[in-house]
Amino acid sequence: MSLPTNPVSEGDIRDKLIIGLDLPSVEEARSIVERIGDAGTFYKIGYQLAYAGGFEFARELIGQGKKVFLDLKLHDIGNTVEEGVRSVARLGATFLTVHAYPQTMRAAVAGKAGSSLKILAVTVLTSYDDNDLTEAGYAPVSAADLVARRAGQARDLGVDGIVCAAPEAERVRSLIGPDRLIVTPGIRPAGTEAGDQKRIVTPAEGIRLGANHLVVARPIVKAADPRAAVEAIVRDIANA
Ligand code: C5P
Repeated sequence: MSLPTNPVSEGDIRDKLIIGLDLPSVEEARSIVERIGDAGTFYKIGYQLAYAGGFEFARELIGQGKKVFLDLKLHDIGNTVEEGVRSVARLGATFLTVHAYPQTMRAAVAGKAGSSLKILAVTVLTSYDDNDLTEAGYAPVSAADLVARRAGQARDLGVDGIVCAAPEAERVRSLIGPDRLIVTPGIRPAGTEAGDQKRIVTPAEGIRLGANHLVVARPIVKAADPRAAVEAIVRDIANA
């Protein structure tokens, strides 16, 4: 089986790693960012930190020249999504997630117009299997079919990329084409704890499977030496 090639240039290799600041306070996040120093260039802020001062902290990171991925998984009526995305674009964030519903994706693409913000779509949450979709009223569609349908819609609506697990990256790549982004969580450096992640791959495997960026949180923010953890992952990415 031939895997997609995914050339990585030396200059931007640190940007391949997005460090998930899954932490309860800005103080803890700031301390981790300081310890990582120039080894880390790209940070993800999700619900936990966003609703605990994380938006101001995002501004602070951007002011320091770091890139920020706001993992807000937006979904609302079109006007609300469009205006919310416009605010995120003004903040200077690099990536923002939305749920992959057509109205929402269309509104998000309109809201980011004229900015450098990239919209990433979450097709089907990885915690949902076919039974969960049935329970939510989606039958008869499998999670795999819904991922494919929504990835195709994301591509057609001009969304910049898809968040998916590494084992799905090859299929998603075939649906969205070579120019859109694949961003992949569920990464574990060899020898670290899986935690609640079920389908894990190493950083090098994630890149080889077609991911443009990897999201890693606990193996870095819980490490005794977060900077060393980041450097080891970036080295592994360089070897992909
Ligand atoms: O600690 P860990 O490296 O498992 O964190 C992965 C990050 O990616 C978390 O912020 C998590 O919310 C996010 N994520 C995920 N699986 C998805 C989508 C997002 O783990 N399917």
